[in-house]
Amino acid sequence: MRLPERVTVCEVGTRDGFQIEPDFIPTAQKIEVVDLLTEAGLPRIEVTSFVSPKAVPQLRDAEAVMAGIRRRPGTRYAALVPNDKGAARAADAGVDAIHTVVSASESHNLANVNMTIAESIAKLRAVGQIAARAGVTLQCGISTSFGCPFEGDVPVERLERVVASLVDLGAAGIGLADTTGMANPRQVTEVLERLVPRFPGVEWTLHTHDTRAMAIPNILAAMACGVTNFDASIGGLGGCPFAPGASGNVCTEDLVHCLQAMRIDTGIDLAQLIAVSRRVEQIIGRPLPGQVMKAGPSTRRYPLPDSVAARTTAS
Ligand code: COA
Ligand code: ZN
Repeated sequence: MRLPERVTVCEVGTRDGFQIEPDFIPTAQKIEVVDLLTEAGLPRIEVTSFVSPKAVPQLRDAEAVMAGIRRRPGTRYAALVPNDKGAARAADAGVDAIHTVVSASESHNLANVNMTIAESIAKLRAVGQIAARAGVTLQCGISTSFGCPFEGDVPVERLERVVASLVDLGAAGIGLADTTGMANPRQVTEVLERLVPRFPGVEWTLHTHDTRAMAIPNILAAMACGVTNFDASIGGLGGCPFAPGASGNVCTEDLVHCLQAMRIDTGIDLAQLIAVSRRVEQIIGRPLPGQVMKAGPSTRRYPLPDSVAARTTAS
């Protein structure tokens, strides 16, 4: 199996997760979670989004969150933006990277950002100029890259056209998002084997949702194709408010545990990460789907039952 030595995990829980929480999470608690993630060693954090407060009221405090977090040198703090207005707000707030959003399917793009794909690309061209002027990294994500909850299959040719437009407007990185967990490992392999060689110099990220328990298998397939950047969400929070059936991202601590068990370096402290997940459970007031926080890492050992212990000491 072809495995990288090192993987870069981008935490998206405070954006992809907090955006769909039914109750508004107080700004101070959002800041607390970002700071805890920083301390756990996350190299990248998608802190929030600069979108219309009418579309996503949960994240209407994006400026205050960005202003309140303690930034660690070496961690890249990003925010999601759909248009030039969002990019200007994000640049003013001092993000290190702008993550943009457009879908590979027309119907999801209309549902998510009320624009056709062509209209979105036109807006993102202006976003690219704002990012360049501000000197921040531009990473362009593509929702429904592997399937759309409204349209079904998304032909790879269509995905490739969107990638080409985004590379043309200056994207340094492309994020392929499986918005509602429709991708499978064979498809991920086929898509990456086609796209990666066609766009040399692009940094690829896979953004998975574990809606159908295929996120980690898809990440393994992507690693085998040379991809080393993965989005993940603390405790497995997450979901798109404009994609029916969407559920949480791959769980950050489950992914980090899996990578560590395979001796792949992430620079993240797993025990601290699990503690963050527990804190997020307290904040949102319900259990999270993460599994390692319940089972403990695979290095966990239990005391022998007395009856077995008696036999092993006797022999
Ligand atoms: N930040 C803050 N306000 C914004 C904004 C942004 N990035 N973009 C637009 N607005 C404001 C406009 O100023 C306008 O305000 P007004 O009504 O007070 O005049 C209002 O929002 C409508 O603007 P308009 O350009 O007509 O946008 P729209 O209503 O067609 O919505 C988006 C388009 C893209 C702004 C909106 O759909 C959106 O923010 N979507 C985000 C979706 C999302 O985050 N999905 C989950 C992540 S994948
Ligand atoms: Zn997502």
